[in-house]
Amino acid sequence: MNILLRDTYQEMSKEAANIIANQIKVKPNCVIGLATGSTPRGTYKELIRMHKEEGLDFSRVRTFNLDEYLGLSMDLEKPYELDQSYMRFMYEELFKHINIPLENTLVPDGHTQKPDQYCRWYEEQIVATGGIDIQLLGLGGDGHWGFNEPGSSLASRTRVEPLTEKTLDDNYESFYKKTGATRDQMPKFAITMGIGTILEARSAIMLVNGERKADIVAKAIEGPVTSQVTASAMHLYQGEMTIILDKGAASKLKHRSHYLHVETARKELNQS
Ligand code: GLP
Repeated sequence: MNILLRDTYQEMSKEAANIIANQIKVKPNCVIGLATGSTPRGTYKELIRMHKEEGLDFSRVRTFNLDEYLGLSMDLEKPYELDQSYMRFMYEELFKHINIPLENTLVPDGHTQKPDQYCRWYEEQIVATGGIDIQLLGLGGDGHWGFNEPGSSLASRTRVEPLTEKTLDDNYESFYKKTGATRDQMPKFAITMGIGTILEARSAIMLVNGERKADIVAKAIEGPVTSQVTASAMHLYQGEMTIILDKGAASKLKHRSHYLHVETARKELNQS
């Protein structure tokens, strides 16, 4: 596990975008797992800049998103603020600005009539592409990846998951409120890749910014592995995991100086 501590959100986002861009350069038809939320916005902005200014080519890239609210899917007839589907988020924040064919992108279909069957199909699609090369992750306020809420099995697969009160509060405030809907009207369930699904990606990046996440970051990174903080499954991960934090998010970590030391030592090793 590589833990990179950066001073600002911008530096964190650039670092993440560079790792993703390198993956695309090494394997132009790579498979990327994508996340929504306010955290990856800066990374997407930087990837768009790289596409426009440096010709970063997404034409053969395929993507799978972590999750989608049950009952929502993109509705381009609505203005963006009124369409809180994760597909719309991806379209507005990344896909429409780069040269990825939309048929190469998959966000779970929140309108599926047969969720269990659909979730199995989603997993099969990931396998059919050869698996995810790099998975981008944020961190929910209750320690979730995707929508794997506390208590989710660390071996879970793509499925429908009920959202916790904490997640409903967080996501209502940050996103849903602007639609004019009440908190009671927001979807209470989501389709999410499971923790077991996520752990199968060949590499992963977890991004977290802001002091409000400092406690949960410390629990996930330095606490025990527990289904109460599903991101703590990072300690069971066998691929290459890079965690990038800004100053605020890293502020409650006990071993900050060790992580800085390891990063410097790794750099020296790579240069020698
Ligand atoms: C939602 C998403 C997660 C995301 C989390 C954090 O719950 N399902 O994938 O990591 O929000 O969001 P934010 O980046 O806005 O804090």
